[in-house]
Amino acid sequence: MKHLIWIVLVLLISCHTKENNAALKAIQVKEWGEVEGKKVYLYTLTNSKGNSVSITNYGGIITSWLTPDRKGTRANIVIGFDTLTGYLSDHPYFGAIIGRYANRIGYATFTLDNQSYQLAANNGRNHLHGGNKGFDKVVWDVKSTLDSIASLTLVYRSADGEEGYPGNLLVEVVYTFTNEDELLIEYTAQTDKATPVNLTNHSYFNLSGDVRNTILDHQLEIYADAYTPVDSTLIPTGAILPVTGTSFDFTSPHKIGERISEVSGGYDHNFVLNRKGITLEKIALLSDSTSGRKLEVYTTEPGIQFYSGNFLDGTIKANGGHILQKHAALCLETQHFPDSPNKTNFPTVVLKPGEKYKTVTKYRSIL
Ligand code: GLA
Repeated sequence: MKHLIWIVLVLLISCHTKENNAALKAIQVKEWGEVEGKKVYLYTLTNSKGNSVSITNYGGIITSWLTPDRKGTRANIVIGFDTLTGYLSDHPYFGAIIGRYANRIGYATFTLDNQSYQLAANNGRNHLHGGNKGFDKVVWDVKSTLDSIASLTLVYRSADGEEGYPGNLLVEVVYTFTNEDELLIEYTAQTDKATPVNLTNHSYFNLSGDVRNTILDHQLEIYADAYTPVDSTLIPTGAILPVTGTSFDFTSPHKIGERISEVSGGYDHNFVLNRKGITLEKIALLSDSTSGRKLEVYTTEPGIQFYSGNFLDGTIKANGGHILQKHAALCLETQHFPDSPNKTNFPTVVLKPGEKYKTVTKYRSIL
């Protein structure tokens, strides 16, 4: 009997240690540099399959996501740079958290509670992705890391008046990488004055794992029966149109390249998702038949910006030293609709004091 108790005890202790060892390996951190006197780190979240996602607290940027193809060969499915210096140079929001307002606000202005606010016109006459120094270009504080479930919590305090927006906004983003290859992004925010808020992540995906291939052969499904058409400056006209019979109908799978020539400038549109209610629902599926990799997108948000990498023009080299040609990657940015602060018929984006902004988006890599 005594022996049995000892054996059980030894087994329990060894299991516990093994678990801890595995858990300890879930997050690795390295120093990555410094921006404006603040330390920047690179966190690598590794799951039990050995797949990993790397995230830096500079801009909350996802720098890489290593996942296997059908032969088991791992490759990076997001565009990124190998060094912090890459991200400090001019680039189109690779992998970053976007805020205070993702996408465009027409004429860089809006009126709230009878007061008009002027924002930076950093995209022609419009305001794009939070302005000159959005949440993608600031150093976030690392609130905590959790080894047991591979999660990283970032916090940013956006001051009243920053980039022209009203109210002190406290933003928290939790990234979790699960053993099921899910990358969960939970956004919360609170304010002390009414302000528009629209947060997203601007990862550029290329499921082939090699940016020398374009994404034109990737197949896409978006569960959206409607989209918001735009003017020549990419501001929604305010209409919500059915996708039926148009090049925007992705309710069944289509190759991205199939109808792209019919869309002036390429896809850069907000889709009005069919999902209803507040739960996390699957809203899109991207697949690459050559590698076998697929990416599911789930969200609690009402919209998604499908951007087909139209402005990539061969002037930027990503990691691996490869030039990023037009359509080298695509973005699937969950969001509220662009220019909502000026469109009364779009769902509201105003966060008031005492309320809590909370949205969740999940990307899942499958075969
Ligand atoms: C977003 C916009 C695009 C473009 C990219 C960055 O997705 O919708 O028009 O500005 O960001 O280049």
